[in-house]
Amino acid sequence: MIYFDQAATSFPKPPEVVQAMTEVMTEYAANPGRGGHALSRRANDTVIRAREQLADFFGFNHSERVCFTANATAALNQAIKGFHFLEGDHVLTTSYEHNSVRRPLEYMKKAVGIEVDYVNIGEFNEFDSDAFRQAIQPNTKMIIVSHGSNLTGNIVPIDVVGEIAREKEITFLVDASQTAGIVPIHMSDMSIDLLAFPGHKGLLGPQGTGVLMVSEGIELNPLYHGGTGGSSELIDQPNQLPERLESGTLNTPGIAGLLAGLNAVKKMGLPEIRKHEQKLTEILVNRLNQIDYVHVYGPEQRLAVIPFTIEGIDAQEIAIILDQHYEIAVRAGLHCTPLGHETIGTSRTGTVRLSVGPYNTEDEVYKVIEAVEEIVEGYFG
Ligand code: ALA
Repeated sequence: MIYFDQAATSFPKPPEVVQAMTEVMTEYAANPGRGGHALSRRANDTVIRAREQLADFFGFNHSERVCFTANATAALNQAIKGFHFLEGDHVLTTSYEHNSVRRPLEYMKKAVGIEVDYVNIGEFNEFDSDAFRQAIQPNTKMIIVSHGSNLTGNIVPIDVVGEIAREKEITFLVDASQTAGIVPIHMSDMSIDLLAFPGHKGLLGPQGTGVLMVSEGIELNPLYHGGTGGSSELIDQPNQLPERLESGTLNTPGIAGLLAGLNAVKKMGLPEIRKHEQKLTEILVNRLNQIDYVHVYGPEQRLAVIPFTIEGIDAQEIAIILDQHYEIAVRAGLHCTPLGHETIGTSRTGTVRLSVGPYNTEDEVYKVIEAVEEIVEGYFG
């Protein structure tokens, strides 16, 4: 099987990830922070190490404010629904947001009465910092930006947005679902207040892992209330992080796997990963563009995410042929980002999305191109 669905979740995982998770499951799968015994302490040490190394990797000074979640969606929900929004508060975001940002925002519109504006970024990354600045209102309380689009691979300059947010004293939330582990992110240099990302995409960890980093001074209402290991005498949820946002038993095997994934990424190096993915992306974009009836969407400078359509052929049908006839895994449809599809004009058709990771090869890329050529030949002779 050739796997080109890396934007959904990375595969394969580095062997170290499997090893770290197996080690937890066979040697010390006790409850971290829930007992003073040696196994619990060992589990807790792994969790603390993961917080520290993640904080360090993302330029964040407060490892105790690195909160583990089940995935990026959970992290984003916590950041958005947990924020102290009042009726009439305004949120500025973009036309590339995934449903994991859009739906919580639309929910908050109805539940609390917030206002939301989606700044149009356009298919070719026409990010305009002046337009963005002008869209800020006196009641804007939060700016939310998807760093990299899961549809077109469009990258938003979060350092520029961070500067604007800092200058206007607006809380800045970054959804790094498609960029964490691929594009450098430095929370303090980029003035990011809240950073949400999954552990199972660019960071090469297992599914069931996600993170929300919460800068000092940002207070969030927890979405869940319950046992936090310490402060059991309190009736209310404790105030200190990470406990406040981490009720219930943590996913220690997953967190150990995420830590191992992070170390594998560090070993390969972000510039190398990015260079490799860019090279494969360029080949794909250039060659697909040369095939009659094929239309490739998105900007030139992008992540390794390439959506395309073949004139008159249903995107799902192409994905099924690629899967069943060529054993090539892709994702077709709207990719949980109807806003993104509105932006590039593919809401009606959807697209076939190829997404590439550090373990994909040039040979695999050429096999996909050949397969698309054959499909076109089959339909149009
Ligand atoms: N958000 C993930 C994707 O784009 C699941 O496929």
